[in-house]
Amino acid sequence: MEKALAGYRVLDMTHFQAGPSCTQIMGFLGADVIKLESHSGDITRKSGRDVPDADSLYFAVLNCNKRGIKLDVKSDDGKKIFSQLLAKVDVLVENFGPGTLDRLGFTWEKMHEINPRLIVASAKGFGSAGPYSKFKALEAIAQAMGGAMSTTGFPGQAPLTSGAYIGDSGTGGNLVTGVLAALLQRERTGLGQQVEVAMMDTVVNLCRLKVMHHQQEVNKHAMAEKAGAPHIDPDSWYVKRTGNVSSGTRQVGTTFKCAPGGENDYVYTYIVDKPELWRVQCEAMGHEELVNDPRFSTPEARYKNQYEMFPLIEDFFMTHTKWEVMELFNKNGIACGAVQSSADILNSDHLKQRDMVVEVQHPQRGTFVNVGCPIKLSASPVEITAPPLLGEHSEQVLAELLGYTAEQIGGFKERKVI
Ligand SMILES: CC(C)(COP(=O)(O)OP(=O)(O)OC[C@H]1O[C@@H](n2cnc3c(N)ncnc32)[C@H](O)[C@@H]1OP(=O)(O)O)[C@@H](O)C(=O)NCCC(=O)NCCS
Repeated sequence: MEKALAGYRVLDMTHFQAGPSCTQIMGFLGADVIKLESHSGDITRKSGRDVPDADSLYFAVLNCNKRGIKLDVKSDDGKKIFSQLLAKVDVLVENFGPGTLDRLGFTWEKMHEINPRLIVASAKGFGSAGPYSKFKALEAIAQAMGGAMSTTGFPGQAPLTSGAYIGDSGTGGNLVTGVLAALLQRERTGLGQQVEVAMMDTVVNLCRLKVMHHQQEVNKHAMAEKAGAPHIDPDSWYVKRTGNVSSGTRQVGTTFKCAPGGENDYVYTYIVDKPELWRVQCEAMGHEELVNDPRFSTPEARYKNQYEMFPLIEDFFMTHTKWEVMELFNKNGIACGAVQSSADILNSDHLKQRDMVVEVQHPQRGTFVNVGCPIKLSASPVEITAPPLLGEHSEQVLAELLGYTAEQIGGFKERKVI
């Protein structure tokens, strides 16, 4: 079956996670993604190697559905070949440190001149403007700078990073959106453009409700002050860490420890707002006495007194497994999810049925498991193929796209251009 992005060619000059996660999605959706690496390759090929001399799993899970070429863009021939490739592709994606492409001699103006239809998509730590524009970044730095860390963790304890790579793969997802929008605009204008996503911007965007919460509280302080309450400096107030209890949205919910009490035997459940469901939830937990208890009988009361309520219902969770609680609550229309370990994820029938846990054959590694494409298109099914070995398709791409002869390609190899 034809794929959504069939016919689009992407030159993928990415490394680590933010860039590769973008181009992998484009590959899943059917684009011809050509990963272009230096002779030392994407550094992640060697990160945390578990099989000697084979590409790491880190590289494998982020670079499926791509072809791979090796090209020394610092050499004269390399620059020439790179220019020729730019003329043949729709999109260049890169996530180098600030100014790297410029230093290689490829400014936006030059690339636009080579191929006016080219879209140049860049993931940066902090973007090309602003006081931090010259800074490099990795995941935890983006989480720290984007407001995620200061709002994640438990009161009175140190800030925490999330286990989810929101700054890296979050940025990759945003970059895909930007590229697709630029491709659509190009349909009307005939021209490419620059697309930029900063990791810090991505994290701030994901922390939107924390920014909302800050303003909510500052507004409340200002109103209280008018009514005679003491002044609170709005610049010294900040959103506090509240563990697993939501801050700002007023939704009541937390993690509850379940039987048999192992490290990941928890559920996250919401304590419902709707009056009829509140009764159902109390009955399901065997705590009918709480339904009309004035401390908890309205959503406002439940929010205000949530810390008083949680210990009262703990016994229900301690006597059921996380799977039983999840089943029972969802059967009754109450949102509840088990805290799934990595083993639970890899064995999840749900994820397997949704092609989210997929086995991939690799020439050096045998079979490994990758996470599938989270975007499901009914007319563009995703088939996951192995990531390229370093330079695996150099000869193929140079012959097919640029028309180089075997002899010319041999010369490039001898001179270590490819
Ligand atoms: C991730 C990051 C911190 C890594 O920094 P780094 O290891 O110093 O790598 P850089 O991207 O700065 O530089 C890559 C170098 O390889 C060179 N290079 C890359 N591809 C090349 C090729 N095909 N041929 C020759 N040289 C190449 C570049 O020219 C550059 O060399 P230079 O330092 O002489 O300019 C940095 O790339 C960064 O901040 N990126 C933006 C944010 C980001 O995506 N972070 C990762 C999140 S997962």
